[in-house]
Amino acid sequence: MASGQLSRAEALARPGCRHASHVMLYCDTDALLFGIHRIRHVVLMQMRFDGLLGFPGGFVDPSDESLEAGLSRELSEELGVALPILEEDHLDACYCPTSSSSSSSRLITHFYAKKMEEEQIREVERAAVTTATDHGQEVLGMVRVPLYTTEGGGGLAAFLSHSFVGGARSQLAASLLRLQLVAPEELSAAAGRARQIRAAPPL
Ligand code: APR
Ligand code: MG
Repeated sequence: MASGQLSRAEALARPGCRHASHVMLYCDTDALLFGIHRIRHVVLMQMRFDGLLGFPGGFVDPSDESLEAGLSRELSEELGVALPILEEDHLDACYCPTSSSSSSSRLITHFYAKKMEEEQIREVERAAVTTATDHGQEVLGMVRVPLYTTEGGGGLAAFLSHSFVGGARSQLAASLLRLQLVAPEELSAAAGRARQIRAAPPL
């Protein structure tokens, strides 16, 4: 486990912290973009009400419900499907980088990954616009993360240059590596290009 990261048990043992759980839903795919670029995997994120990209999930009170039951409840609101999430889907936990530094209100964010079938991912995308109560309010839409690089340098680099909530960009990058969804050299090149794009002068 990388430094600064906590196991599920360690995180739950920290006194006086708030907790939030988010999940990366993903699947393999044979689809091709423009008949050329292998898409390889579908990874779902969402455009939030605050204009930031994040993963589905939200605040959970472990004194009321388990982290996983709370995450399923959040998914039913945000995706329209109460997907079951298991303890074994927990990847890591860490203090949210943008949360208050006072120990009484520090936020610990738990991150999960769940591999699904491509048709299940399509069902989630459909439900997110048809039955999810949060659609159009807290969630403006689900988005697929482009994991490829086009000839013009578009794709993952441009996606990573957007603005993300909390530690979502790091959670995305670390999970892409850990689950071997993107090669390390490809991710590192995309992250470098994303930093250049972000450093470009404003309009
Ligand atoms: N994705 C989303 N949020 C994350 C992530 C992530 N990968 N990592 C950390 N966070 C942090 C953010 O700081 C966020 O505000 O967790 C916090 C809680 O997550 P939300 O998904 O925003 O919580 P949710 O319960 O779905 O919504 C509550 O309503 O009262 C408002 O602004 C409040 O964002 C809050 C929302
Ligand atoms: Mg949320």
